Amino acid sequence: MRIYLDHNATTPLREEVVDAMVAVLRNEFGNPSSTHAEGATARRRVEDARAEVAALLGVTPDEVFFTGGATESNNAVLHGVLTADHDPHADAPPRVVISEVEHPSVLEPCQILEDAGRARVSRIAVDTDGRIDRDALRGALALPDTALVSLVWANNETGVVLPMAEIASDAAAAGVPLHVDATQGVGKIPIDLREVQADFLSCSAHKLGGPKGTGALVVRAGRSLPPLLAGGPQERRRRGGTENVAGIVGLGVACRLAREELEERGRRYSALRDRLWSGMQKRIPDLRRNGAPESVLPNTLNVEICGAPGEVILQALDLEGVAASAGAACHSGAISPSHVLTAMGRTPEQARSALRLSVGHGVDEAQVDHAVSLLAELAERARKMEAS
Ligand SMILES: Cc1ncc(COP(=O)(O)O)c(C=O)c1O
Repeated sequence: MRIYLDHNATTPLREEVVDAMVAVLRNEFGNPSSTHAEGATARRRVEDARAEVAALLGVTPDEVFFTGGATESNNAVLHGVLTADHDPHADAPPRVVISEVEHPSVLEPCQILEDAGRARVSRIAVDTDGRIDRDALRGALALPDTALVSLVWANNETGVVLPMAEIASDAAAAGVPLHVDATQGVGKIPIDLREVQADFLSCSAHKLGGPKGTGALVVRAGRSLPPLLAGGPQERRRRGGTENVAGIVGLGVACRLAREELEERGRRYSALRDRLWSGMQKRIPDLRRNGAPESVLPNTLNVEICGAPGEVILQALDLEGVAASAGAACHSGAISPSHVLTAMGRTPEQARSALRLSVGHGVDEAQVDHAVSLLAELAERARKMEAS
């Protein structure tokens, strides 16, 4: 039996999600835009899912727009806010404030806009624990050309959670719209926009037991955004194209489960994560944990096994039946060290010995203990090989 410790890369679909999606795929093929009974059934499914997403995130259903995932949602906000209503012949392009540890789906669109002369980008540093430099952030928010701040609520590699309520107050005080990439937080920690004044939020179904290729974008009432995809009346003209009804239904069920289980998940995941960490500490000398432990996601452990190359351990773990990650999944296979860890002051060499272990639904204590034993064996072997 495989042991899956890579829930930040993606999660297995929950049974309830599969059942709901299969029922739609088998029996309900209608187009939500059609006015006949088949269409009305599909429309109802989409709207029920929208209500579930809204309930989880503390927004109203008409603030939720379905997308093809968080990468699309992030791109839509960055391109939309920074290019809408902006005269390309004006003196200076608008500024967007991000951090150095954003996901590539924020970093790369910002780079593209910057290279095209359509945006200025302020990249705020983080400290050695992954905490954002709040003074630098406030300074950037105060600049007169700042049009948007976009920050990852919980980091995908280290699990570090930003103090988003405080950051949102700073952004609101400066009159700058705030976009939060909440992809890793949703379903693991409370993400409630009644408590955090964010203007835009991105999330993705496959990080919380839902299907890949489906996500949501929240646009708070009063904020405008040009259509993400022009070409149809769907999603109130914000995203043309016939809806992925089964995917949306899957996201809705995943959000309902997250709302019902959130507290229990927090307790269970952090107990498993702490068991993993204390087990490793007992069995493996010379470890370093990355990310401020008091403010990380309950399910995430980013740990350096000093002197042991991460990719060697990961390959051996995989052969022994355990899946984990060396950094963001989308970086797997790339030799460049994690930009998140180097932004936190780790040398490329140190960053290469980091492992990301992320627990989730289906992981139990026995699996964690088995993974710890394997890690202890493999760490010793990898260190010996490195030293020889
Ligand atoms: C923080 C963060 N943002 C965005 C994404 C992209 O999500 P998606 O796979 O839905 O495009 C991910 C996925 O790894 C992520 O972890």
